[in-house]
Amino acid sequence: MVPPISVRLKLKKINKFMSTTIIDGKEVACKIREKLAEEIAELKALGKTPGLAVVLVGEDPASQVYVGSKVRACEELGLYSQKWELPADTTQEQLVELIHQLNADERIHGILVQSPPPAHIDEEAVILNIDPRKDVDGFHPANVAKLVLEDEEGFVPCTPLGCMELLKAYGISTAGKHAVVIGRSMIVGKPMANLLVSKKANATVTIAHSRTADLPGLCRTADIIVAAVGRPEMVNADYVKEGAVVLDVGINRIADSSRPRGYRIVGDVDYEAVKDKCSAITPVPGGVGPMTIAMLMANTVKACRQLTR
Ligand SMILES: NC(=O)c1ccc[n+]([C@@H]2O[C@H](COP(=O)([O-])OP(=O)(O)OC[C@H]3O[C@@H](n4cnc5c(N)ncnc54)[C@H](OP(=O)(O)O)[C@@H]3O)[C@@H](O)[C@H]2O)c1
Repeated sequence: MVPPISVRLKLKKINKFMSTTIIDGKEVACKIREKLAEEIAELKALGKTPGLAVVLVGEDPASQVYVGSKVRACEELGLYSQKWELPADTTQEQLVELIHQLNADERIHGILVQSPPPAHIDEEAVILNIDPRKDVDGFHPANVAKLVLEDEEGFVPCTPLGCMELLKAYGISTAGKHAVVIGRSMIVGKPMANLLVSKKANATVTIAHSRTADLPGLCRTADIIVAAVGRPEMVNADYVKEGAVVLDVGINRIADSSRPRGYRIVGDVDYEAVKDKCSAITPVPGGVGPMTIAMLMANTVKACRQLTR
């Protein structure tokens, strides 16, 4: 017996979204690294080796892990790297002096100061001293301006750049779509919104933050949600319309006594509650996270090309 039209339509709708695409950031990052390895080999054949300097002030354990991963990624790809581990009582002047030294070092094309530095260091003032042509984190105001101006010579912060690469890799079109970016930081939210609204991506963008009224209602109007909030599993099924694409930037530690470390990592999205409603979603871990270091490598290669042409 053929089911009535209302039931058939409902089934069609369910079928359409039954197989949610799980966006595999590890795989996309791996492909990007393979492509970068080829580019690096070409550059090396011309006597140019891209070089990255990573500067860490203090002994924050999480920062030490991030810095270690960045230097390891350089080594794996055959990039030249310098790791500067400075004591927690390093003065602003000493740090700026090192930055000036790295600006002048021809082996170095990218400079990164691991965030957050100790409280006595003025991070913004330090960033102002990085040569914008070596600012592979894309935090210098000159690069912020280039992003807004859509000048492709500039450097875009690695995490939002990685989000755009994920959309591209999965053939997810942004043109004409309504994207809601939750979070307005200079590291993720604002650059993400700028990338989405650019003439390349053509999305219509709303930026939400802690003072946004009726955030769940706003998010339900979104075709694409980017969650960059820093609140474990905040975005639940009430925020997501059927068929939306959800990119979860969040990295949050929550206590879990069943794990050897005593915690587990979750995103800003309640993945289990949301995934069956989405057409595509990034898991945490394994979604946006692996893209950040891949894009840092890509920015370093780009800096090398631009500085040595
Ligand atoms: N995957 C990666 O490689 C990567 C890289 C960077 C960051 N992250 C993660 O991404 C998350 C965000 O990082 P971030 O550096 O952008 O954080 P952030 O600087 O703390 O910014 C968080 C933003 O979320 C907004 N917010 C906070 N609570 C909210 C609420 N209840 N409703 C709506 N908006 C709210 C804040 O609004 P206000 O401006 O009004 O305060 C702020 O704009 C964190 O979990 C971080 O660990 C991941």
